Amino acid sequence: MPRCIPEPYKIKVVEPLRMTTREHRQSCIEAAGYNTFLLDSKDVFIDLLTDSGTGAMSDVQWAGMMRGDEAYAGSRNFYNLCDAVRDVLGYDMMVPTHQGRGAEHLFFQNFLRKGDIVPMNMYFTTTRQHAELAGGIFKDIIVDEAHDPASRFEWKGNVDLGKLQALIDEYGLERVRMISMAPDVNMAGGQPFSLSNAKEVHAFCRKLGIKIYMDITRIAENAFFIKEREQEYAEWSIKEIIREICAQSDGCWMSAKKDGLVNIGGFLAFFKHEDEMFQKCRSMVVVYEGLHTYGGMAGRDMEALAVGLREVCNNDYLAARVGQLRLLHGMLDEAGVPLVHPCGGHGVFVDARAFLDHLDQDEFPAQMLAAQIYVESGVRSMERGNVSAGRDPETGENRHPRLELVRLTVPRRVYTQTHMEFTAEGIIELYKRRESIPGLRFTYEPETLRFFQARFEPITG
Ligand code: F0G
Repeated sequence: MPRCIPEPYKIKVVEPLRMTTREHRQSCIEAAGYNTFLLDSKDVFIDLLTDSGTGAMSDVQWAGMMRGDEAYAGSRNFYNLCDAVRDVLGYDMMVPTHQGRGAEHLFFQNFLRKGDIVPMNMYFTTTRQHAELAGGIFKDIIVDEAHDPASRFEWKGNVDLGKLQALIDEYGLERVRMISMAPDVNMAGGQPFSLSNAKEVHAFCRKLGIKIYMDITRIAENAFFIKEREQEYAEWSIKEIIREICAQSDGCWMSAKKDGLVNIGGFLAFFKHEDEMFQKCRSMVVVYEGLHTYGGMAGRDMEALAVGLREVCNNDYLAARVGQLRLLHGMLDEAGVPLVHPCGGHGVFVDARAFLDHLDQDEFPAQMLAAQIYVESGVRSMERGNVSAGRDPETGENRHPRLELVRLTVPRRVYTQTHMEFTAEGIIELYKRRESIPGLRFTYEPETLRFFQARFEPITG
């Protein structure tokens, strides 16, 4: 088992958790249609549904909340946030939004033309949805290793330039005008790209005039892996690495609810040469989000984010965070539970297809496994497989992603080592009687982003 790394902070405020009985949890999951998104948080003991907006803020961030300038226009907190974006990320211009998908909406509506190809290092649910709503066609250009849970490759977030070249050959440069590259690739299991890959992609795209826009939602966690694994950057600070990653792009969007260390917020940011995109997004933000100096965030939210962006650049914090994930990963791995390897940056991902290998993928093994983990131990996790991937808009068929995963997403600065041990014990117990677990069928399937509100029933008999 990996040695644990103590957190560089202590607990000042606590929030009670309530353990429930198995009977209660069984009735809750049935009422929720076997969808962990539809459970009430009061019925959850340890909440590993997501790392999005679920973290704990520091005392300095809370102090910043009291310094909120709730002016409709020109709040001082907006300027503090602009300074933090410039200082930590290097971007010159910023458009605030209420969260990540607000930024994605503005970005794709303003950038894409109908029929444009949108190559990304794997899809993310809301990102692909907004690209498609704006007339784009998503294409995956991540390295093959990313689709293989068992592969130990250390840079599963890398872009495969051969795949990008093939898209250019097929569709022509006039339809491949941008690519999106995300650090700590969420759907691949929190897998990083290397800085050398980002630099190669940058050189390739510059030569052809293709823009690179990054989804920097989990950029600090990726920077930690670069510092740890890419020898050239071992002596660089996290902030220097973050700036170097951003320097490989033209602009970005961020769901600040992750590595911004806040409960709500997001933004778009651009370098100076992207003035046209900046102006377009700034014009549109007032229609959908709020004035261009708050974009849906309160003044206090912008202040907390300005502090969070600086706080997340702390290597000791990142080492403890990834260390906690590795502890959970190590305990499950030792017991033989099939996982995505190596351990990622924001969660531990269970290979549900291998865990429930008696089920067909259209019996939604990851959906059922997440439900059963909840019934077993009160731990809430999330399906990241067939249900999340949705249907192909052209054929109407399930997309059948190669990764059929349950994500145990660890909120930042919230849970302790004992919570991780408890989580592991429940899943290991479940693994011992995995053969008795049946599959699921839909009783209600929403048309878009179906995983949020879908309902299921077990296939029995
Ligand atoms: N991009 C990535 C990589 C994300 O992980 C998310 C959200 C978004 C964009 C959208 O941002 O939620 O602020 O609107 N991920 C959450 C998750 C929902 O649970 O992984 P948002």
